[in-house]
Amino acid sequence: SAIAVIVVAAGSGTRLGHAEPKAFVPLGGDTVLAASVSGVLAMRRAPHLVLVVPGDRVEAARERFAVDAADVGAALDVVAGGATRQESVAAGLAVLPAAVETVLVHDAARALTPALLFDEVAAAVRARRHGIVPALDVVDTVKRVAVDGRVVETVDRSSLRAVQTPQGFPRSSLDHAYATARGEFTDDAALVAAAGLVVETVPGDVRAFKITVPADLRRAEQLLAEQRG
Ligand code: C5P
Repeated sequence: SAIAVIVVAAGSGTRLGHAEPKAFVPLGGDTVLAASVSGVLAMRRAPHLVLVVPGDRVEAARERFAVDAADVGAALDVVAGGATRQESVAAGLAVLPAAVETVLVHDAARALTPALLFDEVAAAVRARRHGIVPALDVVDTVKRVAVDGRVVETVDRSSLRAVQTPQGFPRSSLDHAYATARGEFTDDAALVAAAGLVVETVPGDVRAFKITVPADLRRAEQLLAEQRG
């Protein structure tokens, strides 16, 4: 059955301190989005790739990635995003062909995510037929604090995980969760869980970190340089 990967890249990302939207900031001689796309296109089986970008960049993105996608036999759709991440994912879901049974949603900002993590999440969705999120142990001690900053309590971190993308779902679950969602959720797993569906974790990857502040961009440049040796 067919797998689709929706890469959401329509955020403004002002915390990076660049004029461009975050996914279009330079990285490794190309862009953050291009680095993300190269991970997706290196998957074991070519997916149906959907890029969700700012409305004024749809044509440019289609031109930029058409050949890369065709080279590995991946179908490519490029659509305009919405005002929130959730609206952007919904815009991507709306263009999926009927044959797609497994959907992975990925933040373009997690540009160094290895292809293997996409493969692992997709395989876990197909084997377990639940939502699957990559998750890492929380290494810091975590405190709950009051609005004035006073520490209320230390939270037991052994049951906490920091989750990443790609997050994968049976297509029917994700469609249903998006169709019935009330309110805004910060990730797809929360939206799917709110619809009463099961979400499970698989081991995440430190390289799937989200580029958010300038120091993250420098770390990403370094990792890319090391990879290219
Ligand atoms: O802002 P944040 O880092 O949480 O965004 C996560 C991902 O969602 C980014 O890749 C961003 O481009 C995307 N996004 C989007 N449409 C929005 C807001 C965020 O595609 N309206």
